[in-house]
Amino acid sequence: MTDKLIIFDTTLRDGEQSPGASMTKDEKLRIARQLERLKVDVIEAGFAASSNGDFECVQTIARAIKDSTVCSLSRANDRDIARAGEALKDAARGRIHTFIATSPLHMEKKLRMTPDEVFEQSRQAVRFARNLVDDVEYSCEDGYRSEPDFLCRVIEEVIKQGASTINVPDTVGYAIPELYGAFIKNLRERIPNSDKAVWSVHCHNDLGMAVANSLAGVKIGGARQIECTINGLGERAGNCSLEEVVMAIKTRKDYFGLEVGIDARHIVAASRMVSQTTGFVVQPNKAVVGANAFAHASGIHQDGVLKARDTYEIMRAEDVGWSANKIVLGKLSGRTAFKQRLQELGVVMESEAETIAAFNRFKDLADKKADIFDEDILALVADQSQHSH
Ligand code: KIV
Ligand code: ZN
Repeated sequence: MTDKLIIFDTTLRDGEQSPGASMTKDEKLRIARQLERLKVDVIEAGFAASSNGDFECVQTIARAIKDSTVCSLSRANDRDIARAGEALKDAARGRIHTFIATSPLHMEKKLRMTPDEVFEQSRQAVRFARNLVDDVEYSCEDGYRSEPDFLCRVIEEVIKQGASTINVPDTVGYAIPELYGAFIKNLRERIPNSDKAVWSVHCHNDLGMAVANSLAGVKIGGARQIECTINGLGERAGNCSLEEVVMAIKTRKDYFGLEVGIDARHIVAASRMVSQTTGFVVQPNKAVVGANAFAHASGIHQDGVLKARDTYEIMRAEDVGWSANKIVLGKLSGRTAFKQRLQELGVVMESEAETIAAFNRFKDLADKKADIFDEDILALVADQSQHSH
């Protein structure tokens, strides 16, 4: 099995399905270019058959992007697939991603189809898509709540028809990491031609476990593609977040042993771009891209980080595109951090006694004021010089 992990970004498709997150063609193109800069392997640009506007988005992105595969979603019917094929015609590398629900609940209540009909439609969809492009992904929607026997039957057949990626979504975010990993492992072991396709995970975050489930799908299940979005944007509670899953794989390479092609230095810019475009604010304590992700406020932590950054940092802020880690001065800060900030501000104190006096004034101020800005410190040091003369 390969040790290359494919990163499939669906910010522009599943991310956009988040209520209030719809994007214009120009906005989508700008984000697609940023995803290409990030070196995302596959960009799901939209759902070409869903509207003329989305068709144009997929087509524009397919024409502009050269280094990533560009993908369109389509239901498992000829019209959708033909539309996707048409939108992708000029892509350097195009993928049709066709899906149909396979869980008893969805087949019976939503599709009103029998399992045999879903089997047949899956077979025909993949066969038709393969006439249009070489790269076809098949998703069994609500896969995690589907009957394994039925999934084995369908997946074996769609691989025979030429699907080269098999995606098993946890559409409603119901999975638990170990169980989801074991579910995929079991399918891969039981399906005789399973190694002819790349297995993919696509997890929603309804129970806050989308990243953990995706990682388990990779580690336990043997999946080699993760579907994710910038900032975890997506339906309801969102999708697996790209920045978190990528940095987990990179930071814990000792455990996962996998290669990802992502150039993480563009992560923060991508996060800001998606946040500004959609108006979805990133929470300050969000891993990797939150404003506080690399900020240190307590004296003990600040002292540690100033002496050796890995005391409290498992990743480098610069490696994901922050300018540096952030020492936030406040009432919990210690003398080391205070002195360091004076140095950064170009303030030279005449003696250690003066520094201590300034530090004491700073602590008094910090008791009254939550955030101490550089201007406060400069004012406080200026005061100090008035006091000593
Ligand atoms: O969540 C899901 O099942 C999907 C599929 C269309 C892949 O987004
Ligand atoms: Zn989804």
